Amino acid sequence: MKKLKVFSTVLVFSFLFILSACGTSQNGSQSSGSQKTDAKKTLRVVTDASYAPFEYMDKGQIVGFDVDFVNAVAKEAGYKVNIENVGWDPLFVEIKGKTADIGMSAITINDERKQTYDFSSPYFLSTNMILVPKGSSIKSADDLKGKVVAVQNGTTGQAVVENILGKNSPNVKKFENNNLAIMELKDGGASAVVADNTVVEAYAKNNPSDKLKTISDTKNFAKEYYGLMFPKGSKLEADFNKAIGKVLNDGTYAKIYKQWFKTNPDLKTLKAQQ
Ligand code: ARG
Repeated sequence: MKKLKVFSTVLVFSFLFILSACGTSQNGSQSSGSQKTDAKKTLRVVTDASYAPFEYMDKGQIVGFDVDFVNAVAKEAGYKVNIENVGWDPLFVEIKGKTADIGMSAITINDERKQTYDFSSPYFLSTNMILVPKGSSIKSADDLKGKVVAVQNGTTGQAVVENILGKNSPNVKKFENNNLAIMELKDGGASAVVADNTVVEAYAKNNPSDKLKTISDTKNFAKEYYGLMFPKGSKLEADFNKAIGKVLNDGTYAKIYKQWFKTNPDLKTLKAQQ
């Protein structure tokens, strides 16, 4: 009797095992198939395309370094991307609410954001910089005290200016995007703009008739790194980090970087961050 019971238990278990094995082999072939042969899912990438040269509108198209970068990385990871210009504040709402897969917007990785979002490994070194009219008496970040400064709302630019002028200072004018902050400076409503170095340098250089210059301040403005931003717990992070490592190593990153910035990237520093 006892033997029979053992035998039937073994039988039941082997039957279950065969069933589950069938299940896995089916699912398995489906998922590995979709990774290798079928196109993987198209990812919804959200951005604020008013931050040249990283992401901006050109003849109705979203273009920039970030666009080329995310396309290269996604391709490497086997995904398609659909980039949508939703704006800066909405981008964070979407990633938090998991209605988009990736935030791509020259987004600085920092501890505060890491509490709510996941980030890829760093892909770009940046720091804040001051943009002023050519004749300005402002020489450093400390000189911003008592001045009206325009920033893009919710950026690290706002944070570093508030470190100097005080949180909620009425002298910090916040705008929905960085182009509006620059417009305020040109209109005389602010004495300076603080935003990412590459952005303000490109602006001053490409718009000589605006007669603007940039001021760096490594004492007050720390090094920052950009990352792709994912909803917390996103499964994409591992795939994308692997792909970022690949494009850094195989020359793709340097090629894109050179196209946009006409110089070679500091790959050593970036790779040390991976
Ligand atoms: N790097 C800064 C930050 O993360 C500014 C980024 C602004 N990007 C943009 N596309 N408007 O806060």
